[in-house]
Amino acid sequence: MRVEVGISTRAIATRMKQQRGASDVMFPIPAALLVSGRGEHANVMTIAWIGMMSSTPPTIGVSMISSHYSVELINATREFTVNFPSAKQVEVVDYCGLVSGKKRNKFNDTGLTPIAGAKIATPIIEECPYNMECVVTETFELGDFTMFLGEIVETHITTTCIDAETGKIQVTQLDPLVYCAVIREYWALGAKLGNGFQAGRDLANRLKMS
Ligand SMILES: Cc1cc2nc3c(=O)[nH]c(=O)nc-3n(C[C@H](O)[C@H](O)[C@H](O)COP(=O)(O)O)c2cc1C
Repeated sequence: MRVEVGISTRAIATRMKQQRGASDVMFPIPAALLVSGRGEHANVMTIAWIGMMSSTPPTIGVSMISSHYSVELINATREFTVNFPSAKQVEVVDYCGLVSGKKRNKFNDTGLTPIAGAKIATPIIEECPYNMECVVTETFELGDFTMFLGEIVETHITTTCIDAETGKIQVTQLDPLVYCAVIREYWALGAKLGNGFQAGRDLANRLKMS
């Protein structure tokens, strides 16, 4: 039986929503610092087209305009690190997204410190509170972009971001930098709203009972 709803979904869309066309915008997203290359050739670039792709094995996807120096370096070494800055590092994060390593040594320019990781030769950034060491498992060409899948073979966290009693990560200490691509704005996190896999539990239980 067909149910008459009185107003078409198309009409609702026209009244309440503005169509924005095909778009690459998704928000919020992290603004991370990707390190590629080794030794004196290590380079750092800002990256927002990034996401977790798998938990087993832990795999991250990062996507970059193919002409970036970082792509050349990753193709040569087949590894990279992803470093998550805190909100107070906004200026250097933006700088690393404005200037290419083809022209400048961004570690020297910003004072960011490359330090040895544990499993790969590409350095991590000391000043970023959370770091991932990644080994490339797949490469895809997507239009103007090169996407790398990287297996995360090691992670590091600054000890002051860990609760000494519980061992849990303290998000307030981590203070991650958030990026809203559509409006090109950096933000810090707001208030905690609940716990994952718990905040919807009451609703799930009520619906199960009804
Ligand atoms: C907030 C922000 C996010 C960015 N995200 C990306 C991204 O996801 N992919 C990309 O190719 N370039 C991105 N860029 C631009 C690169 O970081 C920039 O072109 C950089 O100079 C490339 O560095 P490289 O040539 O040293 O590799 C971003 C820039 C900013 C400011």
